[in-house]
Amino acid sequence: MGAKNQLSKLTAFDLFSGCGGLTCGLKAAGFRVLGALDVDAGAVECYSANHPDVLVWQEDIRTVDPAKVLQCIRVEPGNLDLLAGCPPCQGFSSLRTLNGSRVVDDPRNALIREFARFVEGMRPRAVLMENVPGLAAHPELTELVQVLEKLGYVVRWRVLDAYDYGVPQRRRRLILLAGLGVAIRFPRKYRKHRVVADVIHDLPEAGASGDPAHDISERRSQRVMDLIARIPKDGGSRNALAGSQVLRCHRKCDGFKDVYGRMAWNRPAPTITSGFVNPSKGRFLHPEYNRTITLREASLLQGFPPGYVFPVHRGKFHVAALIGNAVPPEFAKAQAMAIKRCLLSS
Ligand SMILES: C[S@@+](CC[C@H](N)C(=O)[O-])C[C@H]1O[C@@H](n2cnc3c(N)ncnc32)[C@H](O)[C@@H]1O
Repeated sequence: MGAKNQLSKLTAFDLFSGCGGLTCGLKAAGFRVLGALDVDAGAVECYSANHPDVLVWQEDIRTVDPAKVLQCIRVEPGNLDLLAGCPPCQGFSSLRTLNGSRVVDDPRNALIREFARFVEGMRPRAVLMENVPGLAAHPELTELVQVLEKLGYVVRWRVLDAYDYGVPQRRRRLILLAGLGVAIRFPRKYRKHRVVADVIHDLPEAGASGDPAHDISERRSQRVMDLIARIPKDGGSRNALAGSQVLRCHRKCDGFKDVYGRMAWNRPAPTITSGFVNPSKGRFLHPEYNRTITLREASLLQGFPPGYVFPVHRGKFHVAALIGNAVPPEFAKAQAMAIKRCLLSS
């Protein structure tokens, strides 16, 4: 693309940028991402490898002055089109809050206030924030909305499912859209849904594919391997097994029916969390093979491009966290397109 075209694009900044899922979506919607910030070295390594055109800060947001960031990206306060970000959501997740029945005092929750501080310092024309649905019941959301409204933003939030926006995965997330003096309409659901087979059916067999994110091996006890082998293919669950075949620790437990379950080819994947490498954390077994999905399969189910580079040398769990915490690019794109339509017409 020519330099003139690049300059005429709407501009964005990605806060808590992780491995870059949100940035992929912003770019796909036609935004020029000028900068990104994340405290984690592995996240920044991954982000920079895939987005060498973006200036990245590896910093704790609490120590960063938004005015200085604006100077570095050569944007005046008020001239940035979009500030987007996903503050860490662990403290708001439904498991930790017992489905919203108690407020968890997790220090990471205060990072929502840092997001508000950046909005105040940068005064973007629009704001996009993604988080878990559990945030809806949390005072931090009320406070954020109040701060943004005082600054002149029209704020809307909704819980949407990424499955309705082209992602082959059930993933309900709270999306907040705010426009300076203008309401941003949420995007319409896509007509076509995608399923597991659409993105991982034709991959080469894991192990010797030549893709480090597809070839990391699993180490499990023989007992667990035997259990996995008995789970019926294509969507089977452990409750299909006869009593003696069930692990002793599962016999008394009627809940968590998805653990040790297989994904089904013609259905969406469950929410890809950072625990997808562990079959005891959910329905993360491959539809056919006797293993959990690989890092590459998880990244495709999140909607990352096939050649996205992950820092596999940092270990499977680190990369799984980067992938599980990411915003699916196609989901982010749908929101960013809605913002773009609003900004270009106002
Ligand atoms: C939900 S993830 C972001 C995912 C990212 N938007 C994506 O789509 O790939 C939250 C990120 O916040 C980062 N983070 C946590 N505490 C932070 C802090 N104090 N300052 C900056 N970043 C922080 C984490 O390292 C993590 O990458």
